[in-house]
Parts: sequence; C-alpha cells; structure tokens
Amino acid sequence: MVEERIVSGMRQDIDGDIDVSLRPKTLDEYIGQTQVKENLRIFTEAALNRNEALDHVLLYGPPGLGKTTLANIIANEMKVGIRTTSGPAIERQGDLVALLTNLEPGDILFIDEIHRLRRPIEEVLYPAMEDGVVDIMIGKGPGARSVRLDLPPFTLVGATTRVGMLTSPLRDRFGVISRLEFYSEEDLKTIACRAASILQIAIDEAGALEIAKRARGTPRVANRLLKRVRDYAEVRADGIITNEVAKQALELFEVDELGLDRVDRDLLLTIVEKFAGGPVGVETLAAAINEEVDTIEDVYEPYLMQIGYLQRTPRGRVATARAYQHLGIPLPEGTRQEQLF
Ligand SMILES: Nc1ncnc2c1ncn2[C@@H]1O[C@H](COP(=O)(O)OP(=O)(O)OP(=O)(O)O)[C@@H](O)[C@H]1O
Ligand SMILES: [Mg+2]
Repeated sequence: MVEERIVSGMRQDIDGDIDVSLRPKTLDEYIGQTQVKENLRIFTEAALNRNEALDHVLLYGPPGLGKTTLANIIANEMKVGIRTTSGPAIERQGDLVALLTNLEPGDILFIDEIHRLRRPIEEVLYPAMEDGVVDIMIGKGPGARSVRLDLPPFTLVGATTRVGMLTSPLRDRFGVISRLEFYSEEDLKTIACRAASILQIAIDEAGALEIAKRARGTPRVANRLLKRVRDYAEVRADGIITNEVAKQALELFEVDELGLDRVDRDLLLTIVEKFAGGPVGVETLAAAINEEVDTIEDVYEPYLMQIGYLQRTPRGRVATARAYQHLGIPLPEGTRQEQLF
C-alpha cells in the first residue's frame, strides 16, 4: 500500500518537523498516561536523590503514542544527555561499543525499534546493562584476546511497538517496563488544543473535541488531523476550526466519527464479506487486502481491537457484532452473539 493514511499512527513525511516542535519537554507537559508518568516521576526523583543513573527503561505501545517523546523527557528530567539510535541502524558490535563508551556518566542511550537489534549486537547489551561492562576482542585468530572495558553509568531506554518480539534475556534486563495506552478523548482534546496554541491555529473546544474523537487514541494522529483541518478551515471557512468545520473537513478526508478510514472499513468488510466474519488468518487477510502483515498487526489492529471491532483468536481474526453494526450489515442468521463479543 503506497497511499499514506491520514489516520495512521506511523510517522509520515507530511508530519515534517511538527513531530519535533510539538513534543512536550517535561513530565508535567506530557498529557495523559497517568500511570506511566507517575512511575517515572518516582523513579527519576529517587535516582536523582541518590545521584545514580536511572534504571533501564523499556517503553512499548502502538506507533505515535509518545515513546520517543518520553525518552527525551526522561533525559530532560534527569538533566543528562541523550544519544539516539535504532535497532536497525546498529550494524556491527563495534558500533554499539563505540556508542556506549562515548557516553557521559548518567547519559541515556535511546534505542528505538529495539526489537530489531541483531542478535550478536543484543549480546553486547547484556553485560553492559547488567554489569556496566563490555568485552571487546583484540586481534584475530589464535592470538586474539578479550578485553573487558568499564562503562560509565548509563540508562538504556528502549522503545518498541512489538514487545512480544523481544528476547527474554533482553526484556529481563529492564528495571522499568512501561506500556503506553491509547489516549482518552479528553486527553486528545487537550493535546489538540495545546498543539493549536503552539502553531497559532484558531480552534474552539467543540472543534478540538471533534478532532480528538477521530484521532484513534493517538497524539500523532490528533496533531496531523489538526494540521489538515486547519488547511480546510483557511480555504473553505473563515480560518477558525469549529465543530462544524472539523466535521466537514474530516468527512471530506474520509475519516469517520470513530477515526476509521477507507482502509479500516475495507479490512472489516473483507472479513465480513469474503470470510463470513472470520476467523481468518492474518496472512490470508493481508493477501486479500493487499497489505503487509506487519502493518496490519502494528497499525490497524491495535485500534480496531481497542474499540471492540476486531478480535484476535487462536484461529484467526474475527469481526465483532459491533463491526457489523458500524458497517450497517446485518449479522448472519444463526450467529451466536457470544461468538462475536
Ligand atoms: N503525552 C503527550 N502529550 C502531548 N503530545 C504528545 C504526547 N505524546 C505524544 N505527543 C505528540 O505526538 C507526537 C508523536 O509522539 P512520538 O514521536 O513520541 O511517538 P512514538 O511513540 O515514539 O511513535 P513511533 O512508534 O512512531 O516511534 C509527538 O511529536 C508529540 O507532539
Ligand atoms: Mg518514536
């Protein structure tokens, strides 16, 4: 699928630098995720008081919920530097060793997409995280010997959309594991208002609420919708985002009241019409809608499951009665409701 989806939580080119400019800098500015925030407040304060590096932190959850933002906030709250890299970017063990040995005491090493670290590289992390050391090989062949280097105290912050793909030795070495949840409408409304004020966009409460409702629980989507609706408001209205303007714009962009777009509806329709409501295996489904399995699992499904439209069962994906209702399709004769909920 080449077409970019306005409601995808994944970062897109059109997000440009708003992704960075709208990023909150402190825990207080970070909206929602009360539990995660509270925990991090306690851990950062305790580490600061003891004058120690923070325990290693793993952040996971669907794209666009604020993992990278939080990693940067942690560095800011700890008043330390942050080096950012990602699983696929580290090609050789030496790259990681260089990153680690160049850290200042207390610094954060942020590894995004940590589930994509290659195995030999991951193995460098184990002693680094546990004992603050790395073993490097000097020389080659029979004369080669291993030298142990002490690292400065540091905090590894890992982020992933797929915590299930992490090996257990790696997962076990994180002291703090936090799962980010989809945001409430209220939180997304606050996020949209905050972004509007930073970007100097005129919006009223009802307009912000409409954007929040259709943002799929995801701040990145809320910010993107806000930008698009502003364009509409400037060209087709008087520049102010009211409820009416937001509704008209989002209808035009084919984002429905729940934040579903054509692709979501296609996916649900395919399950309902081609596979009698399911269960259908994800590979089969991916082939039927011409989409990648990973994208289905990372981008579409988490939200569809969150709103109770889709279920993952051992035999495959099932569309729920609510999904039928949303699509305006009657449940097939003899369907037992409890099968679907
Ligand atoms: N709690 C929040 N309050 C306000 N804005 C937020 C919050 N969380 C995220 N955002 C906004 O959403 C955008 C996306 O967040 P971020 O890049 O941190 O997501 P992510 O989880 O790292 O996504 P990915 O999985 O794609 O790496 C940020 O630029 C920021 O503007
Ligand atoms: Mg990120």
